[in-house]
Amino acid sequence: SVFNENRLRDLIRAVPDWPEPGVMFRDISTLLLSPSGMQMVHEHFAERYQDKGLTHIGALDARGFLLGAPLANTLGLPLVIFRKPGKLPADTIREEYTLEYGTAALEVHTDALNEGDKVVLIDDLIATGGTLLAATKLIRRLNASVVEAAAIIDLPALGGSSKLDNEGIKSFTLTSY
Ligand code: PRP
Ligand code: HPA
Repeated sequence: SVFNENRLRDLIRAVPDWPEPGVMFRDISTLLLSPSGMQMVHEHFAERYQDKGLTHIGALDARGFLLGAPLANTLGLPLVIFRKPGKLPADTIREEYTLEYGTAALEVHTDALNEGDKVVLIDDLIATGGTLLAATKLIRRLNASVVEAAAIIDLPALGGSSKLDNEGIKSFTLTSY
């Protein structure tokens, strides 16, 4: 299936004033309800990342898991999960970060990556960029690198994609609001 941005946008729901007044929440659960829409998104990411010399796909808790697991499977690459605190059982490292609303942290297992590994990170959406930046810091602490940070949606007014760019992280998104 050929990528069609208008079709993608038709499948993303906008929910005003959620989770708090003034936030326009871009909801991918409606995209998840469309097998053909998900196939279109998946194929677009899979084509982009098939010959990039990657060693791993890195997926962000929780919505990034929905994209990263099938992508890693299609590309035949190992999947590294970046999780909210207290979820990973073995030796971990942690990065704290700030969200559009509230604060958070991410953890990764220290044995999930090795020096020189090349990771594409994937999530559903870039808002402030805090989540993808925290994951990148974890990857860099393990002496591995981020080739690109991919998401379905960019919210450029929140500055995340330019913040990532300033930190030397290329981003790739399928649509923006
Ligand atoms: C949302 C979204 C991204 C992140 C984007 O996740 O799925 O991971 O916020 O925001 P940022 O660019 O400002 O960091 P959330 O923390 O709501 O968690 P969820 O995926 O578990 O719903
Ligand atoms: N939609 C989904 N997730 C988000 C958003 C949003 O608008 N902002 C921060 N995380």
